[in-house]
Amino acid sequence: DQGARVLVASNRGPVSYEVQENGSLSAKRGGGGLVSGLSAIGSDADSLWVCSALSDGDREAVRRGIVGAGPEAPPQRGGGGRREGEQGVRMLDIPADVHADAYNGIANSALWFVHHMLYQTPLEPVFDAEFRRQWASYETYNRAFAEALAEEAGQGAAVVVQDYHLTLVPGMLRELRPDLRIGHFSHTPWAPPEYFRMLPDDIAEQVLRGMLGADRLGFLTRRWASAFEACAAQLVGGLGDTRIGVHGLGADADFLRKRSHEADVDERLAALRAEVGEGRRTIVRVDRTELSKNIVRGLLAYRQLLDDHPEWRERVVHVAFAYPSRQDLAVYREYTAEVQRVAEEINSVYGTPGWTPVVLHVKDDFARSLAAYRLADVALVNPIRDGMNLVAKEVPVVSDEGCVLVLSREAGAYEELGEDAIVVNPYDVVGTAAALHEALTLPVEERAARTKRLAAAATALPPAQWFLDQLHALDADQPS
Ligand code: G6P
Repeated sequence: DQGARVLVASNRGPVSYEVQENGSLSAKRGGGGLVSGLSAIGSDADSLWVCSALSDGDREAVRRGIVGAGPEAPPQRGGGGRREGEQGVRMLDIPADVHADAYNGIANSALWFVHHMLYQTPLEPVFDAEFRRQWASYETYNRAFAEALAEEAGQGAAVVVQDYHLTLVPGMLRELRPDLRIGHFSHTPWAPPEYFRMLPDDIAEQVLRGMLGADRLGFLTRRWASAFEACAAQLVGGLGDTRIGVHGLGADADFLRKRSHEADVDERLAALRAEVGEGRRTIVRVDRTELSKNIVRGLLAYRQLLDDHPEWRERVVHVAFAYPSRQDLAVYREYTAEVQRVAEEINSVYGTPGWTPVVLHVKDDFARSLAAYRLADVALVNPIRDGMNLVAKEVPVVSDEGCVLVLSREAGAYEELGEDAIVVNPYDVVGTAAALHEALTLPVEERAARTKRLAAAATALPPAQWFLDQLHALDADQPS
């Protein structure tokens, strides 16, 4: 066995399975920046993507040997006869309780909240004995990935580990397989030391040392890379031999332009137009229902706009797509309910028989998201913090008639798009309302010119190139 030449490891893989009524398995290709970014290696016969089995269908696919059960039953690589979307994927069937601790408890609570600086009174972390127990599961879960990668990787292969779920993998893998070239990429922000140090000291150090087991660490912006460097300097005496790279993942222009003009998108565009009503302007947002996306303050800013500028009543609609996410966590369920409550309240206070001020959709539908991008007069992207935010990059590419971007200065995308967006402080609801008004009143030529420049900046580093750059950087580090 030659082993794979390029390996990717992430919690969520490129495909998920569902058990159909007749017992067969249907495969669904995943969405999101991570998936589209890594699809660059999809056709590479020597590549393997190691991920977690997340659904019953996924676990069934593991049992049936469709997605590689382990070293005894290696996944089919390099041969013909594979079905699309199933090549070179190995799903790890991590015990459910271990996965829940690692994914919900550690990754999506402690680590996600620290990096997005979401802990604020009254939402404060309590790193108690339960947290320590979950941390042990996080270690077990990371070890399962490290061991699978060590088994699968060919001599000297490149392994690119993804995100905050898998911070310990580089260090563990380095010990198991010193011959490998190991990279790690963070799709989130990185917290500055004064905030990162909310984590217990020993755990903060373990995270940093785990990542520093990599040859290279990648970040989406200079800001997050610098924050990591500052944490490493304060807590573990610096970076050692590890190099840092900044790779600002961009939108996939070719894919988006084509996909957004397919028939299902046209259909949804017609339906959305009918829902919005003839001649009205639209303020569009598309997010996972996620605390860091700041959806509630976005709704409050829209309400403020209707108060400060009553001339917009009946003439504008806020089209908000908020797709449920991480619903195992109570704080996400509560946030989802809060988003719905505030949207309903605005509709009941301001709505008229012929006008629904907020059109809120919660069922994830990629074709409808693209239709909304095409329709948007204004796109609202106001996260409290965001690693990059691809919506900000996708809208200008897809927009039919130009779209003004209202963008939080706390989104990673701000570094590349800040000049041609209308920039807001995400906490400032009144300021955001003023920005929405400014966006709605921007002259058409100005709007078109800005959209053009935004689209160019947003597509500067397409996903395939983004991924290949990281591989080349790993190669370049090698002593020849
Ligand atoms: C962020 C993370 C990704 C994650 C995605 C969706 O973008 O950086 O690693 O996959 O959110 O979250 P989920 O918990 O559903 O995988």
